[in-house]
Amino acid sequence: MASTREYDIILLGATGYTGKLTAEYITSSVTEPIKWAIAGRTQSKLNDLASKLKASGGPGGAPATIVITELTVPEVTKLAKTTKILLNTVGPYHKYCTPVVQACAETGTHYLDVTGETPWVKEIITKFEDTAKKNRAVIIPEIGIESAPSDLVAFSAVKLIREIWDCGVMDMVASVHELKSSGASGGTLATGLGLFDHYGTQQLKEISNPFCLSPLAQRDHRHTKFPAPTTYRKTLGERISGVWQYPLLGHLTTSITAGPNQAIVHRSSGRYPYYYGFNFNYAEYMAVDSPVVGMLISWLLTLLTIALAIPPIRAIVKGFMKYKPGEGPSVESTKDNRVEIRAVAVAEQLSKTPRKAFVNFVFEGGVYELTARLLVIGAITLLKDQDKVVKTHGFGFLTPSSLGQEYIDRLDKAGVKLKARQLGDFGSK
Ligand SMILES: NC(=O)c1ccc[n+]([C@@H]2O[C@H](COP(=O)([O-])OP(=O)(O)OC[C@H]3O[C@@H](n4cnc5c(N)ncnc54)[C@H](OP(=O)(O)O)[C@@H]3O)[C@@H](O)[C@H]2O)c1
Repeated sequence: MASTREYDIILLGATGYTGKLTAEYITSSVTEPIKWAIAGRTQSKLNDLASKLKASGGPGGAPATIVITELTVPEVTKLAKTTKILLNTVGPYHKYCTPVVQACAETGTHYLDVTGETPWVKEIITKFEDTAKKNRAVIIPEIGIESAPSDLVAFSAVKLIREIWDCGVMDMVASVHELKSSGASGGTLATGLGLFDHYGTQQLKEISNPFCLSPLAQRDHRHTKFPAPTTYRKTLGERISGVWQYPLLGHLTTSITAGPNQAIVHRSSGRYPYYYGFNFNYAEYMAVDSPVVGMLISWLLTLLTIALAIPPIRAIVKGFMKYKPGEGPSVESTKDNRVEIRAVAVAEQLSKTPRKAFVNFVFEGGVYELTARLLVIGAITLLKDQDKVVKTHGFGFLTPSSLGQEYIDRLDKAGVKLKARQLGDFGSK
């Protein structure tokens, strides 16, 4: 990353729902002295936002504004060359952001976004991984609610088990224990529906494989590419009903965000199989109070997925969306929101009583506020600890957990709580 660039951070897409929250978080909470700018396609919107940020008087200060009329490679290249890190909240990503990633990869500009669009992430990794490595760019997609929490939960469990027992992890089961949310933004809904418009059945089927982003899956390796769970097996009834039970996590059913999260976690584990374990398997679910509720949710989600694959039904759903792109729940309505993820990891050891770790992730607030924090603190960590990140992980397409314990520690100070602990007293290595 060229140290002579004019800005430390440019936030592209700052005038959208998530972009505004991100800009507000920088102004209100970033105490490190940074030079930053907001970029978007409409000068008046940028000016309004910059004035509001200035008036709020937070430590992060007010940003400069930059208009970028078209998201083409030449236009974004000009923008990317002026900054060390580009944060991108323009969406849908599959529709507009391939040239943004290309420009960053070609200009050696670090890039972070909050997409949850796995087929698009697969596409940009395939297209630009070599270019990003060659030009020394760090690219981290999915550093929002999808999929930073899950990736950090898995990383923390593996790190603890490595430290205590000096071995990898076999199985990890995670559960969205609580998700109190005021709803999805218009941009998120448009993105989810747009995926069905843009990608064919084959591409959507490919990304249903939880290992679809794992480098291990691409390699001709002597170890298994898609390790199945070693310590548990679901019964036929559990597979049909879509609900099952796991110790310490209770009744579990299908989680709508499991797909992207599992893919990112397995990308992390596939990059470091000697650290995570060659049999590492991560599965994510949603906790429910009763098996009946779990079964209903699982079946409804299956039906919904099938229905949304039918274009006329998608068109009807688009007409009924509560929020249009650019809109989302008010900050007041998200005040009592909360997200909690719990997870159990089983150490890769053949002992009578399996050695385990329990991880707990909690954020008191809205999921979009959480996304803004994950993105901004990710950027600050990369800015401050770039040498360490790159020494450990190199350049190219990394995952949120590549930002390491420093990222987790900074998040902790920002109210994003993550704790991993050893389960039971099973001694040490
Ligand atoms: N998975 C996660 O963790 C997560 C969390 C939050 C958001 N997201 C994703 O982030 C994206 C943004 O969400 P949102 O709710 O903030 O959406 P939004 O409010 O609709 O904002 C979209 C942003 O993209 C810009 N934009 C749209 N079309 C553009 C174009 N053709 N050229 C240039 N800029 C364009 C908009 O600019 P204008 O303001 O000028 O219209 C706006 O800044 C979505 O894809 C959403 O799924 C994901």
